[in-house]
Amino acid sequence: MNIVVYPGTFDPITNGHTDLIERSARLFDHIIVAIAASPKKRPLMDLDTRVELARDVLGHLDNIEVVGFSNLLADFVREKNANIILRGLRAVSDFEYEFQLANMNRVLAPTVESLFLTPAEQYSYISSTIVREVSSLGGDISTLVHPKVAAALKKAHASA
Ligand code: COA
Repeated sequence: MNIVVYPGTFDPITNGHTDLIERSARLFDHIIVAIAASPKKRPLMDLDTRVELARDVLGHLDNIEVVGFSNLLADFVREKNANIILRGLRAVSDFEYEFQLANMNRVLAPTVESLFLTPAEQYSYISSTIVREVSSLGGDISTLVHPKVAAALKKAHASA
């Protein structure tokens, strides 16, 4: 059985992430969407909100679990008995950072493989940062995120 961990900060989960998760749900037995606390990124939304939103958005997939974590990814992967770390590669610019992460994770957890999928091209330019920024300035993000995410962002900006 292949258990996959798909880690990220997901501040917020976008349609690009969902597209990648839907693709991986067709390929693997069980996917754990691992939402990192990522305090260094100073997320707009707290960890519980990010987890709750991802659960709502991914509710149509039955081999998906959404979990928050704040420890080392390699330790979290071992705790979950997972054997694969999945990451998305949107553009060449993602490669250098992903290469570094994958190599560090191989040192920390030698039996775990990092695999990469590309999202559909209409999502290749999205990032959570750009979605947050457009939403904070009142732009239309309805093609980029689930309606619940758009509403949660609006609320978060109002109270920020
Ligand atoms: N569609 C849309 N956007 C995507 C995407 C996709 N398919 N794939 C990635 N992105 C975007 C994200 O929205 C994010 O945008 P942002 O920087 O504007 O927030 C960016 O690409 C990449 O970030 P993300 O996927 O959230 O990952 P991250 O770089 O924030 O987090 C972790 C990386 C969580 C995996 C890493 O920090 C980690 O492992 N942390 C745990 C602590 C640890 O073990 N550290 C040592 C690692 S060796």
